[in-house]
Amino acid sequence: MTTLETSNPSRPDQPIGVFDSGIGGLTVVRAIKDALPKEDIFYLGDTARLPYGNKDRTTIERYSLEIAGLLTVEGAKVIVVACNTASALALPRLQEVFRVPIIGVIESGARAAVASTREKRVGIIGTRATVASRAYERAIHAIDPTVAVLSQPCPLLVPLIEEGMFDHSVTIEMLHHYLDPLIAEGIDTLVLGCTHYPLLKKAIAGVAGDEIVLVDSAENCATSVQKLLSESELENQAERPGNLQVALTDSSNPFFKTADRALELNINRVQTRIVQGVTLAAL
Ligand code: DGL
Repeated sequence: MTTLETSNPSRPDQPIGVFDSGIGGLTVVRAIKDALPKEDIFYLGDTARLPYGNKDRTTIERYSLEIAGLLTVEGAKVIVVACNTASALALPRLQEVFRVPIIGVIESGARAAVASTREKRVGIIGTRATVASRAYERAIHAIDPTVAVLSQPCPLLVPLIEEGMFDHSVTIEMLHHYLDPLIAEGIDTLVLGCTHYPLLKKAIAGVAGDEIVLVDSAENCATSVQKLLSESELENQAERPGNLQVALTDSSNPFFKTADRALELNINRVQTRIVQGVTLAAL
């Protein structure tokens, strides 16, 4: 049985806990490291159960509770849900259950999209579960109800990214398949609504063209983390660069090296954590 929360209040010298279903959340880690170089980060990728994007809300909530539980055991002072799917479907439940501040990627992405759109036409790409949840649409309309939101689920992009096929012709063809209808609808802003997608940013920009602004959920989330730490007086004041620890729930992840190289994180050791499960009735 996983311990769900620590009773200690968070301290500035504790790590930021970051999780994703797989390696996609490392794009958020890259952005947090750039914005907050003194922070220690503990990253947990639930590679044993990837993808989350094709699963239902109950499963995504359960997985997210279990992974966030493991991060509190690692002493996380705040938890960053570096997964759009988990942010879209599990954030309210996580915030209800855990005492540490928990931040997702949807709200910051929605704010950036509204700020960027000139014609009030925003495209969203994400997993099936993220798009079906309509979380971006709600978040955008809460800021500006006059913005038209056009969404496209892109279930084949995560496997292509995990295979490291960032500029492969098959990937470009899939991008045309997914993006051409949104481009034809006249979007001027495109939200990369999956933390895997920044790894395809160059290819997406090539297909979308210069006129469409790409909103990267990883970069915007890092800005929100910075704000949260400063507001809650949890910034690490140490005079040294922060360290990054990475753990996955399955030890045989062949895609990890690809992401590590692409994001220049120089991770030399990957730990394994076993999810033992929680009983939801006990929460
Ligand atoms: N990185 C996850 C997200 O941001 C997608 C991967 C998955 O389907 O698990 O939505």
